This record gives sequence, C-alpha cells and structure tokens, in this order.
Amino acid sequence: MTKHNKTLGEFIINKQSEFKYSSGELTRLINSIRLAGKIVNHEVNKAGLVDILGTAGEENIQGEDQQKLDVYANEVFIKNLVNREIVCGIASEEEDDFISIQGNNNENKYVVLIDPLDGSSNIDVNVSVGTIFSIYRRITLVGTPVTIEDFLQPGKNQVAAGYIVYGTSTMIVYSTGHGVNGFTLNPAIGTYYLSHPNMQFPDKGYIYSVNEGNYVHFPKGVKEYIKYCQEEEEDRPYTSRYIGSLVSDFHRNMIKGGIYFYPSTSKSPNGKLRLLYECNPMAFLAERAGGKASDGFNRILDIKPTELHQRAPFFCGNKDMVDKLESFMKKN
Ligand code: AHG
Ligand code: MN
Ligand code: MN
Repeated sequence: MTKHNKTLGEFIINKQSEFKYSSGELTRLINSIRLAGKIVNHEVNKAGLVDILGTAGEENIQGEDQQKLDVYANEVFIKNLVNREIVCGIASEEEDDFISIQGNNNENKYVVLIDPLDGSSNIDVNVSVGTIFSIYRRITLVGTPVTIEDFLQPGKNQVAAGYIVYGTSTMIVYSTGHGVNGFTLNPAIGTYYLSHPNMQFPDKGYIYSVNEGNYVHFPKGVKEYIKYCQEEEEDRPYTSRYIGSLVSDFHRNMIKGGIYFYPSTSKSPNGKLRLLYECNPMAFLAERAGGKASDGFNRILDIKPTELHQRAPFFCGNKDMVDKLESFMKKN
C-alpha cells in the first residue's frame, strides 16, 4: 500500500489530460460515483444494526433507517447524480424506466446505468455486496431529452465502467478504457488510495464460480465444462468458489484467476444477469484486464440491446477458461 500512496482524486486529475474528450465532465461523474459510494458504504457497514436503529427510528417517526438497502443505495446514487447535474440520463436496476435529466446545465453528454446494490441477498448475513456502473456518451443531440436509444448501445461503446465492492475493505475498481485500477477506501479519513494499479487477470485461472444448485437446468455444454473443471488432471480439479455477489466473485477471480458464469437454464433461457448494468460493465473491465466475456457463443460487448432490463447468459473471466467453455458450448 505504501508504494502507491496516490489518492483517487490525484489519480483522476493526472489522467484527465490523457483523456481524449477531456472537458472534466467524466472526471466529475466519477467523483460523484466515488462520493455516493462512500455514503452507501457507511450505511452498508451498519446494516447489522438496522433492527436496533429501526426500533429507535420508529419512536422518532423516522423510518428511513429501515429502508431496504438496495432502495437506499438507488436513491443515494440517483440523488447524487441528479442534484449535481452530472449526467443527462440514468437507468437503474431499481427503476422501471430510464430517467432524463434536464437541469440548468443541458450540456451533459453522458448517461450512466447502475446496479446500485449487487448481491443484496447477502446483506443480511454480513457478506460482501457491491455497486456496478456503466457509462456511455449519449448518441442523441446534446441539450435534448435523452431517449431509450442512448441507453441501448452495445457494451463496446462504453466510455467507462466499474464497481465498488463493500468488502473487508471498500474498494472502487474502474476503467476509462485503458487500464483497470483499484482504489481502497481508508474509512478513517474517507479517502480512496490507489492500491491496485493496472489490474490484470493472471495468465492461468484455477477457480470456477457458478451456482451449481442449478446444474440439472444447465445446457449440455455447461454441464460438460463443469465436469471438465472437476476432472483429475495435471492442473485440475479447479477450485470452486461462489459468493453469490457478482461484484465480489468477479473481483476475486480477476485477482486470483478464474471464471464466473451464470448460464441460461431451462427455466430462464437468458440466464439471470442483466446485460446493461451487470454483464456489460464487467465485460468491459474483463477485456481491459486481459480477460474475456461471452454469452457462450458471442462477445458480450457486441450484443445490441433491445430492452433496458434484458438478461443475458454470462461467462466471464480468464481468457483461457472462457475459450474452453465456448468450445464445449459449440460442440453441443
Ligand atoms: P442483485 O442483488 O443486484 O439482484 O444481483 C444478484 C445477482 C448477482 O450478483 C449474483 O451473482 C447472482 O445474482 C446470484 O444469483 P443466484 O442466487 O441465483 O446464484
Ligand atoms: Mn446485481
Ligand atoms: Mn441489485
């Protein structure tokens, strides 16, 4: 940690000039996200106290402390971005429709898509959760209200993407297209420090992460790949690790080497994960970190979305592992 004592604020300022459309707008946007992340982090950290605080809250007719954390996180991110007039549009897992923002400043060029709290079923049991974000330049005319077309862009158009993981430490990991960099929050002073510069998947991965409880519903290719992971060979069986928070599973696999997958099942032909604010941002990071992301046959970032909340089968992580998985899918 001591070697890289640059703060996120300093890092962003240094990078701004390297960015081709540098107007400071993207800088302000990432600043807003890191700030909202600190607020959500504070709330997530005392999640175990909600019942205790809730009782006190009822007496004070507050009620706010008892709000479900994913609703709370959604509000924090949206309010931060709307009130500070940072973007022209937002789409969120927690909102049916996208939000168009027409403030005093109508010059904003970016739209952001978020999963405000990912892995929220883990919150009650003190397991890491996260926030995922994806940023595009709008394609409609600046100054006019955003339209659905601004949000339904293929993932390869992303300008930036990242996640915050509220884990044993809170970290923000993001890329504006070049490297992937990770910053760890020092909660005592509320500052993120560059702790993981230029993150890359290791050359070879040995971890597979999947909800194996759904095994019977998986396509044949996926079943065969799982058996392959479990076979006794020179470098196998691989290790199985599944947290059930995409952010945390991805984060571990990027550092240690592994593949995360949420395939189609006989019940959900498109899997579970949402293309626009779960798969695409993770795919963007994976590719920038030397990894790969696929729906089993095609590159995730090439898919042209048709709906805001559409789902996609998702296979993401070490390139060698995703390649292998795809070869099993093709065979079947
Ligand atoms: P969210 O909490 O935003 O709804 O997302 C949960 C997602 C993802 O984070 C995780 O990997 C997956 O759902 C877990 O699903 P299963 O419980 O079906 O394994
Ligand atoms: Mn999610
Ligand atoms: Mn969520």
